[in-house]
Amino acid sequence: MKISFIGSGKVGAAIAYSVALKGLATEIVLTDHSSDKAHGEALDILQGQAFCPQAKITSGEIVDTADSNIVVITAGTPRRADEPRIELLSRNAGIIMDITKKVVALSPDCILFIVTNPLDIMTYLAYHASGLAAGRVIGMGTALDTARYRSYLAKQFNVDARDIDAYVLGEHGETMVPLTSNIHVKGLPLSSLPSYDEEAVKQIANDVCSASGQVIALKGGTVFAPAVAACAVLEAIINDTRQLLPVSVFSDKYKTALSLPAIIGRQGAIQALDIPMTPLEEAALGKSIENIKTYITELKN
Ligand code: 2OP
Repeated sequence: MKISFIGSGKVGAAIAYSVALKGLATEIVLTDHSSDKAHGEALDILQGQAFCPQAKITSGEIVDTADSNIVVITAGTPRRADEPRIELLSRNAGIIMDITKKVVALSPDCILFIVTNPLDIMTYLAYHASGLAAGRVIGMGTALDTARYRSYLAKQFNVDARDIDAYVLGEHGETMVPLTSNIHVKGLPLSSLPSYDEEAVKQIANDVCSASGQVIALKGGTVFAPAVAACAVLEAIINDTRQLLPVSVFSDKYKTALSLPAIIGRQGAIQALDIPMTPLEEAALGKSIENIKTYITELKN
């Protein structure tokens, strides 16, 4: 299992480190526009190998990613606290398409995992540039926002976050849709908890939409939550767990990339599932889809 990283900034390096800690790869290759940065991060991870599952950890150029099973793309410029993800669009679009073509030429059977923002648009562009099947070009999408939602709900109601089933769908961005109507704790409706509070759930749904901005304002960027969310998706691919996770994939139905719950396994995102929603939630998801599509149209013009 060879996993290569295009981009070894804070998020790329943190994902690589998490992959190494979990022993998900036998080979990890780090690349970056600064070869010193990639080399430094690879060395830093390698120097802890005495206490980790074993893997070959190197840095190099794009050519060294040849024959990867998974390529993680975090390259691009990061988002500033007050900057809508969408403003990153034109800055990152060219970078992603160029990288995608080079990477897929070297690893024609890989799965591409996109982390660069604006996430859904980058996933859409990578899918079109790659020529791969849609399910093999996976954007981290709302797997991250869903992790935040579940963690905040768990904190509020004092239960295990892993037992919370809740989803954020649509755009990984300002129009994301945290579903409040369909939250369960180990199969039981959240409302069966004695401490259930509908207003608190609504507040958390709001908070999730600004959760990354809060971290960016405080420490300059989000790192750890993206790294564990990315690792969860990578683990589902590598171990063929067929876990249900919301990730961004090109949808034939909606003609764009967006996050819907999908079964994740060794072939990528295998099947997107419909999820029951209230009419208000459906309308919000519709708006989110339109938002992504508008930017894609603007980009093409
Ligand atoms: C995040 O949600 C910035 O998109 C990144 O953490």
